[in-house]
Amino acid sequence: MSDTSTTEMQPSKLSLRTTNLMPPFNRLVGVLPKSVLSVPSMMSVAERRFLYGLAARYYEGEGLIVDAGIFLGASTRCFGEGLHENPNLPASVKKWQRPIVSFERGIVTPTMPLFFKRNGLEFSGAPGDSFSDLVQGNIAPVVNVVELRLGDIQETGAINHPIEILFLDVLKLPEINKFVVENYYSRLIPGRSIVIQQDYFYDLLPYVKTYQEALSEYFTFVGEIGSTAVFLCKKQIPQEATLRIEERLDASEQLRLSAVALQRSTDPARRFLMALSRARLIRKLQGAKAAQAYLEFVRSEYPEEADSERSPRLREALRGAEIACRAKGAPIPEAADADI
Ligand SMILES: C[S@@+](CC[C@H](N)C(=O)[O-])C[C@H]1O[C@@H](n2cnc3c(N)ncnc32)[C@H](O)[C@@H]1O
Repeated sequence: MSDTSTTEMQPSKLSLRTTNLMPPFNRLVGVLPKSVLSVPSMMSVAERRFLYGLAARYYEGEGLIVDAGIFLGASTRCFGEGLHENPNLPASVKKWQRPIVSFERGIVTPTMPLFFKRNGLEFSGAPGDSFSDLVQGNIAPVVNVVELRLGDIQETGAINHPIEILFLDVLKLPEINKFVVENYYSRLIPGRSIVIQQDYFYDLLPYVKTYQEALSEYFTFVGEIGSTAVFLCKKQIPQEATLRIEERLDASEQLRLSAVALQRSTDPARRFLMALSRARLIRKLQGAKAAQAYLEFVRSEYPEEADSERSPRLREALRGAEIACRAKGAPIPEAADADI
């Protein structure tokens, strides 16, 4: 299998495309079979190459691959087709029967119809409709290694085995984030398990960052790819450490952790998005005036990223944060914000 073996540093500061992963993980971002790309995805191609490489060349079968929030099944196809190429496949199947456990609610949300249209899908489900047939069709080529659990992960999510790869694109509500951390993190294998946080370098969902950073003593930050942050578990996480995290995080600690998270990226555009996520956290913890003052600071610290002519993605993120920080009364609930 060919291998790029590089840390790709893109020239454009506004690209959000910098791939910066520590060895040996950088070597996993290799070639992806065309068949995998046939499944429409919200992830970048680079992120998919990484997932494929992890399953093909990193996974040893010590634990399960948990794939949470698969939408149309792209991540599961990456893991599944990668696993088909993995020399450890026979032993892994013998041990786990289906080493990949995939979670998806399978219900169309208000923002999904636009995605279906943009990607030329024949399926035109309306909010509230099921798209589970699409998911099942898309993962059919790898179903021999996948256990698909449709429904709310908070009800379907019981896992009683070690987890070697934990892919998270499902943390759209604080309670789902809490469920995942409390139920999965103590199952990570020290020195082996990888947590892939697909919503990390993202302008919403500040709790994803604060929870992860609250447990930073158990992880090594391995790098960034797309909107994803990758963490290697370095020591056993006691179950107790995963419980009632929110009670241990007062406002100043949450703000400290959001600043730590912001500094993870080497890419100014990602840091800008993280600062916007932090502005939303300030809005929640300290009110609109403090959040607006921070946004003013962000605009002056990131003049290129805040320039509305330079990038539609960054412009949209700044606009969203400005609205959220201006809002009178209670902060906009995270659920309403992250309709994905
Ligand atoms: C951003 S999308 C995932 C995108 C996907 N990784 C891709 O590459 O296209 C998030 C997914 O999480 C699913 N989801 C949200 N809440 C869920 C829950 N409580 N249980 C299971 N799935 C959920 C949504 O239905 C949606 O498909």
